[in-house]
Amino acid sequence: MADLLNHKKILIIIGGGIAAYKCLDLIRRLKERGANVQAILTKGGAEFITPLSISSLSENKVYQDLFSLTDEAEMGHIRLSRENDLILVAPATADLMAKMAMGIADNLATTTLLAANKPVMIAPTMNSQMWANPATQQNLKTLQQRNILVIPPADGDLACGEVGTGRLADVDDIISNLEDFFLSQLQNNPLKNKKITVTAGPTLEAIDPVRYIANHSSGKQGYAIAQALRERGAIVTLISGPTHLPTPHGVMRITVKSAQEMLKATEKTLPADGVICVAAVTDWKIENPSTQKIKKQKGSLPQLKLSENPDILKTISTHKKYRPALVVGFAAETDHLIEYAQNKLTKKGCDWIIANDISGDIMGGDENQVHLVTKEGVEHWPLQSKLDVARQLTKQIEEYFK
Ligand SMILES: Cc1cc2nc3c(=O)[nH]c(=O)nc-3n(C[C@H](O)[C@H](O)[C@H](O)COP(=O)(O)O)c2cc1C
Repeated sequence: MADLLNHKKILIIIGGGIAAYKCLDLIRRLKERGANVQAILTKGGAEFITPLSISSLSENKVYQDLFSLTDEAEMGHIRLSRENDLILVAPATADLMAKMAMGIADNLATTTLLAANKPVMIAPTMNSQMWANPATQQNLKTLQQRNILVIPPADGDLACGEVGTGRLADVDDIISNLEDFFLSQLQNNPLKNKKITVTAGPTLEAIDPVRYIANHSSGKQGYAIAQALRERGAIVTLISGPTHLPTPHGVMRITVKSAQEMLKATEKTLPADGVICVAAVTDWKIENPSTQKIKKQKGSLPQLKLSENPDILKTISTHKKYRPALVVGFAAETDHLIEYAQNKLTKKGCDWIIANDISGDIMGGDENQVHLVTKEGVEHWPLQSKLDVARQLTKQIEEYFK
């Protein structure tokens, strides 16, 4: 699944340090997260890793030469910064830091950095004495004063056999710095830091320790909504029934089984700015689930007594103390879709209902066609991927919080 890094354009400048090999893993991870990665490999960097490995992972051409005719006919050193959102120098060698601080432009990497009109982040790595050297420390200070973002090197064993500060930050650490950067770019986004709870998936109601009643909800739509909200800077808690889906990046997931557990977990997230109830909550539960496996008995069938499950959407919508500013429910219907959705809107006291026709393959599928039902009217959205439904809904939520 994609996320905060989805569609972000990142230019990585790979300098000549042993840790250059870690960039390959970094590029792979960024690609998995939906980022578009371009790379400049310095002459020093090419002593450690090959352009072929980089281009195989980034699925993009690797740039090395300032005076390459084809690249420079298009002014590669200018274009590369213009068409990316961020330039990451990793590993940032002592040499690259010094050249950046001095404004030297003697190769493609340094010229691109001097010509950059985009934020620059560096992840230095070097021998600890090189790092501690006043020249490097002075360069670091100069770069920080110019708003270059720095991912500090870590302590530990260094490739040169010495121990100290100078290891390239872990790939995880670099990725979370990138996430923080892109999150900070959402400064004026109304969803930034809004606390939103999303419920997703089915609930399971135990018959006995091995059997249950449930429904076919896959959780895909709810997970996509959690992801889309997170992409726009919201602090998202996902209360999920059992699913096989990976948790979207940056989203806090709480897994529950029954409707009762889902209600409790959702209430625990209050106060929240918004609650989006996407979960297909089982309407009924077994009144007295057996604590032991019910045995098959010839000639007699077990009598299951059902009782009503708590109504999560209504409970949240009518919450006395912590009614969120926005409560959205889903209405999955096989017939009379809009009519039932409008009734549900009034009965539950929520702000919007997303009505979806589940007479086709919607519950497990990747696409969904929904209608946004509000007190003001009904909007019909096209058939689209569940992620696109999620992004359209997120846009609508942004408007609401503006
Ligand atoms: C085996 C080896 C490992 C090196 N590792 C580093 C390093 O981790 N950090 C660093 O700043 N320089 C390191 N250097 C020195 C740089 O490769 C050298 O300064 C080079 O000119 C850097 O070029 P660049 O900054 O254009 O990539 C290393 C050199 C060698 C031979």
